Amino acid sequence: MAQTAELRKTQGAMTTYTRSGGKELESPYEKPVVVPLASNEDPATHAWADARFATDIMAEHAFFFALLMPPELAAKERAEALRFSEIFATLHKQIDANAPPEPSELKRFANNVVEQMKPLIDYKARLGDAQRSGKLRSLVWPLFFDHTQHEGERWTRRLQTLARGESEFDRAEVTHFWTNIMDEHARFVAHLLDPDEFELIETAMKTSRVFADLHRGGIGGVAAALNHEPGTVVGSLIQNPEMDAVLSAAETILDFKTKAARGIEAARIKSIIDPRLADHVRREALKFIDELKRAV
Ligand SMILES: [Fe+2]
Ligand SMILES: [Fe+2]
Repeated sequence: MAQTAELRKTQGAMTTYTRSGGKELESPYEKPVVVPLASNEDPATHAWADARFATDIMAEHAFFFALLMPPELAAKERAEALRFSEIFATLHKQIDANAPPEPSELKRFANNVVEQMKPLIDYKARLGDAQRSGKLRSLVWPLFFDHTQHEGERWTRRLQTLARGESEFDRAEVTHFWTNIMDEHARFVAHLLDPDEFELIETAMKTSRVFADLHRGGIGGVAAALNHEPGTVVGSLIQNPEMDAVLSAAETILDFKTKAARGIEAARIKSIIDPRLADHVRREALKFIDELKRAV
């Protein structure tokens, strides 16, 4: 099985996260998240893991655009999206099939991924503007274009940092970037749920508010989150007593997303959320937590 081969290949340098914590994936929508061991600071190993993660994420962004671009509304843009999706799926497979680059190859490896990301980032910016101005009438929100553009730009910065030989995560950068992403995910979920899912929509909006406050940073952000959504923040801290407010909120949203992914797959939750999108945002929450634990 593919995942067994993968676990074997990455043994020694990598950890593989799954929803259940075991070795089996919850078919057919779960994808594993492969990261360097906590003690591993080798930039080439990080570049491989982050490029592996990000190229799959980019392939999915483009695929989600295509799903939200009916041919009647956006035939040309849809065809472009599908082409991007294929390019990144191919690149992802190439990276996944190979070991991390040698130190002498690190720059070239990272630059190659960065260069390939540029046209997709441009596409997201261009279509975001078109959708915002009404020139494009697809089903992709302007914020979804912006959100995915920001992720592309962030992976670009990360790979450029790694190309310089620096693998360390800066806690302020990690928190600033991902709290905004988590806030937006929560609002995406709220707006893609069936309008009858009152309770989940409310939970999603409260979660968004917590991350928007935490995004302000520092003790002021935590105080604002506690003030606006005391139940949600205190609930997170009680469930994760040894953690700070940001990490406990991140664990809570990961838990929410994992349950949502399972509920959507089993059709216990009514929504227009594609199960692949549900797993996508779950993996991004996992990456947030992993980075936060490494950050200094
Ligand atoms: Fe994403
Ligand atoms: Fe995202």
